[in-house]
Amino acid sequence: MSIVKCPVCGNVLVRSQNAYVCERNHSFDIAAKGYVNLLPSNRKNSKQPGDNKQMIHSRNIFLNAGFYAKLSETINTLVLQHLSGKQVGREAHILDSGCGEGYYLASLAKTFTSRQIHASFYGIDISKEAMRIAAGRSRDIFFAVASSFDLPVMSETIDCLLQAFSPCSDAEFHRVLRKDGLLISVIPGRKHLLGLKQFLYEQPYENDEMEYPLTSFQKVDQVRVSYSIALHDRELIGHLFRMTPYFWRTGAEKVKELEQLETLETLCEFVITVYSPR
Ligand SMILES: C[S@@+](CC[C@H](N)C(=O)[O-])C[C@H]1O[C@@H](n2cnc3c(N)ncnc32)[C@H](O)[C@@H]1O
Ligand SMILES: [Zn+2]
Repeated sequence: MSIVKCPVCGNVLVRSQNAYVCERNHSFDIAAKGYVNLLPSNRKNSKQPGDNKQMIHSRNIFLNAGFYAKLSETINTLVLQHLSGKQVGREAHILDSGCGEGYYLASLAKTFTSRQIHASFYGIDISKEAMRIAAGRSRDIFFAVASSFDLPVMSETIDCLLQAFSPCSDAEFHRVLRKDGLLISVIPGRKHLLGLKQFLYEQPYENDEMEYPLTSFQKVDQVRVSYSIALHDRELIGHLFRMTPYFWRTGAEKVKELEQLETLETLCEFVITVYSPR
């Protein structure tokens, strides 16, 4: 049964051959790349909302090179561990909200497949470019252009909601999660990318590790992942830089210097928190 929600009337959207259609005949075409645009144009606050082409492209190359594989593996382990036994006899629904180019969700789907655990996977992001690339990763995952503040799924249908470095909506996450579901939230740790910041800034500050205000949830687990990476490739260093917020905050001179950098060593640090709905 479909759990996809029509962004116009709120009824269920069912897949026909090339579109998703609701009982009131609102219809959304599936793009050639395989994703569907469920973001009504009157709810866009800019022409191209979300991360731009360059950022998405850089993130895609950097993530595919495996530098955040440890984070991805830890997410997979936590999902398996906390979901186990909860959805006995039925298919679990897993949603990645603000999934970007789909790296973590695709890895999670592969882990489930390799263990022959049945689940369906949904990824949404407000950036059309992100959905274009994500849809290229797998035709078995549902990818849609949509907002984290208006998720295109029916209420209380999601077993596991993943949110990594993307916008958070306490009320909307609570609406879509089943009462026994779980929310997995990833934020940058205090020293995340400190090596990159030391190169860019005179006085690099540590991140403040601000957890999202999730008042409708309670914490059930928390794991810190911390390790060093060394990049020995100018292009990769550039890609890492362009996928971070520092891309917007760095002066032209420093960017030029960075483009000449042959080696960069930096810490990577992530905090993964598992919550359950109150
Ligand atoms: C830092 S990226 C993280 C992407 C992915 N979770 C990852 O870790 O690779 C933040 C993502 O949030 C998306 N985004 C920004 N505002 C959004 C919104 N209101 N709804 C959904 N996605 C949004 C951006 O387009 C971008 O892909
Ligand atoms: Zn409708």
